[in-house]
Amino acid sequence: MAGNRTFTMIKPDAVESNNIGNILQMITDAGFTIKAMKLRRLSEDQAKKFYEVHAERPFYMELVEYMTSGPIVAAILEKDNAVADFRALIGATDPAEAAEGTIRAKYAESKAKNAVHGSDSDENAAIECAFHFADEEIVG
Ligand code: TYD
Repeated sequence: MAGNRTFTMIKPDAVESNNIGNILQMITDAGFTIKAMKLRRLSEDQAKKFYEVHAERPFYMELVEYMTSGPIVAAILEKDNAVADFRALIGATDPAEAAEGTIRAKYAESKAKNAVHGSDSDENAAIECAFHFADEEIVG
């Protein structure tokens, strides 16, 4: 059965362009409940670890540099079928290919600076939630 939690980050470009509020509004309008949230800056080590599945990809160092370039908002979101429904809400990785009305179509600058992260599986959602939040930071 599909799980009910996913992990998101509002990335540095969207924080810098003052779109935290707009993006959170879209998330809650789509039926997600925020279970944990914090504004934080990732260290280089944290960004490298978070994206380590991409370590061999050509864009990896650029991605790490970008993700440490300013604060991000990390959050745990709850909804039935959270991972798939959130991927649909954010749209394709490249905003030029993202469906109209999706968060990336509205707020992303480019494929690299693409406004938001969304977990791609229930397994990764659990790993990513635990990466950013201790149990006592998650509301019951
Ligand atoms: P990926 O997991 O493929 O995309 P998504 O965030 O949609 O799950 O890639 C992780 C991030 O890496 C992506 O959000 C932006 C960056 N990226 C690039 O900068 N260039 C690329 O060609 C790709 C595929 C990703």
